[in-house]
Amino acid sequence: TIMAAFKHGQIYALLRYCRLLKNTRGILKPEFHCLSYLQRSLSEVMQINHFHTSSEFYRQVVLGIETSCDDTGAAVVDDTGAVLGEALHSQHSVHLKHGGIIPPVAQVMHQQNIKGVVNDALEKAGLVLTDIDAIATTVKPGLALSLSVGTHYGKILALSAGKPFIPIHHMEAHALTIRMAHKVEFPFLVLLLSGGHCLLVIANSLDHWSIIGQTIDDAPGEALDKGARRLKLRNIREFSSMSGGQAIEYLAATGNPRAYEFPTPMWKYRDCSFSFSGLKNSLFKIISRLEEKYEVEGGNIIPPINDVCASFQYAVTKHLVRQTQKAMVYIDVRDLLPKTNKILVVSGGVACNHYIRRALQKLCDTTGYQFHCPPPNLCTDNGIMIAWNGMERLKAKTGVLYKKEDIEAVVYQSKCQIGTDLTDDVRSLGIHAQKWVKF
Ligand code: KG4
Ligand code: ZN
Repeated sequence: TIMAAFKHGQIYALLRYCRLLKNTRGILKPEFHCLSYLQRSLSEVMQINHFHTSSEFYRQVVLGIETSCDDTGAAVVDDTGAVLGEALHSQHSVHLKHGGIIPPVAQVMHQQNIKGVVNDALEKAGLVLTDIDAIATTVKPGLALSLSVGTHYGKILALSAGKPFIPIHHMEAHALTIRMAHKVEFPFLVLLLSGGHCLLVIANSLDHWSIIGQTIDDAPGEALDKGARRLKLRNIREFSSMSGGQAIEYLAATGNPRAYEFPTPMWKYRDCSFSFSGLKNSLFKIISRLEEKYEVEGGNIIPPINDVCASFQYAVTKHLVRQTQKAMVYIDVRDLLPKTNKILVVSGGVACNHYIRRALQKLCDTTGYQFHCPPPNLCTDNGIMIAWNGMERLKAKTGVLYKKEDIEAVVYQSKCQIGTDLTDDVRSLGIHAQKWVKF
């Protein structure tokens, strides 16, 4: 009888309560608790939870699925930003052996793992598919073969369970992760640094983004990964399972960042575009020179490895800081952010780097910006950021697909610009900084 009287939300609240019990005491299955607690009255359960109204009782939940590159991720988050369950399968070690990501290999591994990862996330949340309010999935941009797996799986799941489907833009998800735990209101400036992208954008709203600068060639993570490969860092056991960027950060910590000179990319251009291939090629030349000098052969490592990593990391950081500083000048000229509340959010895998974070923090301290960066585990690819972006969309009622034919029509896109490109406007103003911020 009680079961019949309970609306969906109230039943979910009971399940949530059961999960709380399960998490704190680690006992019994949720179903068992559900049955036993269904015998209590709603008010009694509310009292136990210290809830005062039934709206506090009801929490919406979104399942997020991520397969845009080499991580199969899934997570369940609620509308307060609490992570109820998460699972992640990384293909990193396999791709490291191949010397880079081979898309068909990534696709097969996503296919092998996606079901287990999604079920794991649901199980950790103590929920089943019917408890979920919507399914959010990365459908753009990324590796086509990788995206195809998540897009197909997410759509099938939504259609079979009769749930709404929310297609997610991977870079938007990186940019909005911070809002799970911090009150970061639109509009704000975002610097997105990953293995495939380098973007300076203004997040105006969930659906309105303006590009101030982006890379014209490599992404910073790509340059770091290729640099680490050329430095043969994989041959050092300690770094054999790390990403290139992480290994370089680790070695750079005890090196001299001024030991080797790198050219300043894009110094002639009065805009906020990025370029990392010149830095990468300069690194390759330095390595070849040092290999010759120290007669290093085969898989051996050049002796001044720490100084080389520190200098390369410094050069990459300097470029990021300078272009961001110019973006801040442009924002002032065009009055794009509220004067009293200017915010810079940095996200994406490369934002795990503490040296880069500190440098950008220093830039913000000098320019009067608030600096925000998600914790490292939320900067690299994961299902949580996708679920959260889905939750934001569900709450704002934008980009949520309910109709079968609309869900069926969703296709993945390997390339997808995040918003309107303002680069020409930046260039037309001849943006430059009066004095570079030191870090
Ligand atoms: O966002 P992400 O997980 O995947 C993409 O969407 O590309 O970023 C992965 C990139 C890799 O290139 C990796 O080398 C880099 O993030 N990365 C780092 C660090 N940890 C991961 N780069 C610099 N320092 C780190 N600590
Ligand atoms: Zn990413």
